Order: sequence, then structure tokens, then C-alpha cells
Amino acid sequence: MENSKYMKTEILSILRRTKDYVSGQELCERLGVSRTAVWKCIKKLQEEGYEIEGVNRKGYRLVEVPDVMTPTEIENCLKQKNGSGGGSVIPAEGENEGKPENVGAGTRLQYRILYRDCVDSTNTWAKQEAELGAAQGTVMVADMQTAGKGRRGRSWASPSGHSIYMSLILRPDILPEKASMLTLAAGLSVAQAVREDPGLDVRIKWPNDVVISGKKICGILTEMSLQMECINYVVIGIGINVNQTEFPEELADRATSLCLEKGMSVRRAGVIASVLYHFEQNYALFLEKGDLSGLQEAYNQILVNRNREICVLEPGKEYRGISGGINEKGELMVKREDGTQTAVFAGEVSVRGLYGYV
Ligand code: BTN
Repeated sequence: MENSKYMKTEILSILRRTKDYVSGQELCERLGVSRTAVWKCIKKLQEEGYEIEGVNRKGYRLVEVPDVMTPTEIENCLKQKNGSGGGSVIPAEGENEGKPENVGAGTRLQYRILYRDCVDSTNTWAKQEAELGAAQGTVMVADMQTAGKGRRGRSWASPSGHSIYMSLILRPDILPEKASMLTLAAGLSVAQAVREDPGLDVRIKWPNDVVISGKKICGILTEMSLQMECINYVVIGIGINVNQTEFPEELADRATSLCLEKGMSVRRAGVIASVLYHFEQNYALFLEKGDLSGLQEAYNQILVNRNREICVLEPGKEYRGISGGINEKGELMVKREDGTQTAVFAGEVSVRGLYGYV
């Protein structure tokens, strides 16, 4: 039996790579399916918003890709990042018939992408799926959240149409006290993705806010479930401001979006794929070293707080100092005004610039 999702991904990837017309005959041969099957597939893609031109005796050409975050689109973008031979995506249930065995297992994360238009919170959804046994590498993506969660019990405004709300399930075999390091690895992955494409000079505000020109574009909320003092699962929730052109007054001086900074709209699936691509590599390095020592340098290079005067806000006390980089545990090294050196652990602590958020 032909598998339509697999075919859609393959056809899209061929059309993307070719950029010119690809004849129906060639698509039939490369996929080993009938002309009708190819035509039906093209029709489905067009219904999903892909602008595909069909010209007699020339074939099909991809004219415009919509800003959708369907598994097909994200998988396609990931496939492009990994190169044509790579394959770090496994199809969602019922999507793998007719698809060749996935390669690249070993230590690599195998992503399984799930999408919904609207959820309460992708973190809540991910935790529900994790409780039901969802594998490490399962990624929940939504276009809108009705109860988006931020850190410290705050809410995360999550309207539809222009942002990324995603959560990733991990089941690392590490001590629970090391789980917070994963948040820093995730922040680094987002920063690396956005620096690459759309190519913005984003930086990290310790521990894991991603900022451009002193304003936040991404927040990360990590939640963990323990069983007999061992990690059952970790959910890393990532919210990225992508195509917003305005923010509520109370956020306007602290938040920005990729679109506002780049001056053009950005396709969300590409950003998600790039974050997943970088996280896969960072996660492997983290597991290999057992801490952040393999990521420390990359992180410190784009740490916005570095060598700056900061204010450390701990519950019940506040002090000033000069920030260094992070150590291998992800703690921020701070030289206090009295000359002593302190390693600040994220937990309940936050840092501010002396004159504002950064
Ligand atoms: C922060 O306060 O900075 C963290 C915000 C985290 C928001 C993301 S959006 C996707 C995921 N689902 C949630 O409910 N929260 C996280």
C-alpha cells in the first residue's frame, strides 16, 4: 500500500531540491508509484497551502511554501538540514508503511513530531503523552496555546498564527540534579538555530532566555517527572516569538520577534527544524561528557551577561557583581563587589543588568 504522508514528504523534498520543473514521470519512477498517486499527492499538498505549479509536458514546480508547522513540513526541513542521506525523524504512528528503515540510530535522538492547531499547553500535552509512554524525541508542536505556562508560575501569552510553541520529551539516564543543565543546552540550541537562519545576532541571557538587542525572543520551561528518585522524563518547552509585529504595552520594551528584528517574516517550520538539529548535537555532547563542559565555550561566547555588571536576585537577598561565563554545571560565575567569586545556580535566582532586563 502507498503511504501518502511518506510520499508527500518525498515529493516535497524532491521539488525543493530541484527548484525547476520535475516531470510527473520522474516522480513516479523515483517513488515507484503510479501517476495518479503522484497527482493525488500534489493535490493534497496544494490543499495544505503549498503553491505547486503543474504545466503540461514540463511537470511540477514548487512556487511557494506556506508557514505551516505540520510534521511533513518540519520533517522536510530537518531532512534538508541533515543532508539527503540523514534521517533523524521517525514517522508518527501509521505513517511508516512503505518507508525505508530509518538510519542514524545509535546515540542520535530520533524525533517524532506531533502537531495540533490548539492545545492548553504543549508542556501539559507532552507530559500526558510521556505518562502514556511516549518515547524520548517526541516533539509536540502547536499553533496556539490557551494556557501557555511560563517560569515561576507565570503565564505565557500564546496567540495563533505567528509563534512557535513546542515541547520535547527526553528520557536521559542522568541524575535529577543535572536536568537543569538541559535547559541551558536548549537555550544554546535556539540561539545557534536563529544565528544561522534567519541569521540574527542573538545572545543568551543566563540561564536560558534568548535575546536580541536586549529584548527576549524565546523562553524555555523545563519540567521533570521522577520515579524512585530517578528521572522518568523531562519535558523541555520552548516558546519563540517569530512573526509578531506588535506586543502588548507591558511587554513592548522587553520582547521582540524574529520578524521585527529581521524586517521580514520567517517560516516557523524551518526554525523548529533547526532548533531540533542543534539540540540533537548538543544533547549528544551533554550525555557524552555528563555535564556542559562540551558546550560551555559555545555558550559563553554568546552569553550577553558576560563581563558585565549585574544584579543577582536571590530569594530574600540581592547583590551586585561582575559576571563571568558559566562553569561546566551551568552555574554563572560572578565576582562580587567584595572580590569573592560565587557560582550562582539558576533555580530561584535571576540576574538583571544594572539598568534593565539585560
Ligand atoms: C519563560 O517564562 O520564559 C518560559 C516560557 C516557556 C513557554 C513555552 S511555549 C511552549 C511550552 N508550553 C508552555 O506552556 N510553555 C512552554
